[in-house]
Amino acid sequence: MASTTQPSALEPIHQFDLSGQYAQIGPEIREVVERVLASQQLVLGKEVAAFEKELAEFCGVAHGVGVANGTDALILALRACNIYAGDEVLIPTLTFVATASAVNALAAKPVFADVDRITLNLDPADVRRRITPRTKAIIAVHLHGLPADMDPLREIAKEHKLPLIEDNAQAIGASYKKRYTGSLADIACISFYPTKNLGAAGDGGMIVTNSLELDTRLRTLRNHGQASRYVSAEPGWNSRLDEIQAAILRVKLRHLRTWQKARQTNATKYSNLLSAVPGIRTPFVPEGYEHVFHQYTIRSDRRDALQKFLTDRKIGTQIYYPIPLHLQPLYANLGHKRGDFPNAEHVADEILSLPMYPELSADKIERVTSAIAEFARQ
Ligand SMILES: Cc1ncc(COP(=O)(O)O)c(C=O)c1O
Repeated sequence: MASTTQPSALEPIHQFDLSGQYAQIGPEIREVVERVLASQQLVLGKEVAAFEKELAEFCGVAHGVGVANGTDALILALRACNIYAGDEVLIPTLTFVATASAVNALAAKPVFADVDRITLNLDPADVRRRITPRTKAIIAVHLHGLPADMDPLREIAKEHKLPLIEDNAQAIGASYKKRYTGSLADIACISFYPTKNLGAAGDGGMIVTNSLELDTRLRTLRNHGQASRYVSAEPGWNSRLDEIQAAILRVKLRHLRTWQKARQTNATKYSNLLSAVPGIRTPFVPEGYEHVFHQYTIRSDRRDALQKFLTDRKIGTQIYYPIPLHLQPLYANLGHKRGDFPNAEHVADEILSLPMYPELSADKIERVTSAIAEFARQ
């Protein structure tokens, strides 16, 4: 049956929208920006130090080191774990390219592992199969806000004496067996890209760890390898978090648990409304995991047609990520082909992330799910 609502008359529903958040906290943000500008202390000052402490506490670890973005956080964490040219680093093939390009930035080699078909996160059994004598670290990505299965990964890392790194760009605040992401490995990397659950007004990143040794090395690596002023112990980078971003992120951190609950409530509404829709699979959250729904990602074997159907009804969606890394032109030199990582390839053809942000209204969720149900009836 044809829809009675004319799509052209509908207000667009964006896949992500920060305007509601800014309307809520604009005055708080402007106050702290003014405070930093008045202080004229602009890089690695009091705000960064306070934010490092607050975010480490939020993750349940001892140390936080503010850096310029999440990609730098990965590069610096890898170097702090002694990754050098030619080393192999195991990563999932279904992730944002930054997880791999951070490895390339050190002239090391990303080695891909397949993901689990249900959780979309690293499959520990495949990680184990791909370890070689050149493997020097493992990076687990908590995709879409759901923690990876860290216990078996920790076991594999321990057995092979490998550092285990969390790419926690997408799952700040999530938990696994009662422990927060960021505290589940040797070291964890966070991105504050504006669309993240904790987003800056620009770029920012942090590395969190319980190790004082790693913390000390990271502080020198982010500042030209200077162990003390104008004394450089090793080659480093300029990767510093600035005071304005830190001050804004401190404001937002105070709201993060509330926003996280709102995302989870929205996810529950979506899942309830979609549970009986044929051909649609809603996200699965294993027992003992807390998902923070950076993305609410459904599965459909008619994904491309569904995406077009929703676009025609002014409903924004995204695919995170449509091409697994082993099939990216960037990694053609690694010689992979279709069929090498069957789970990642399969899910990459099915996944579709629906509109998701804390302020998303029940009406909009209803409109999205009604459109999906209408598509399913065709
Ligand atoms: C999984 C993952 N890793 C790394 C990054 C890189 O973070 P950034 O954009 O802050 O460099 C991102 C986000 O963009 C990401 O989603």
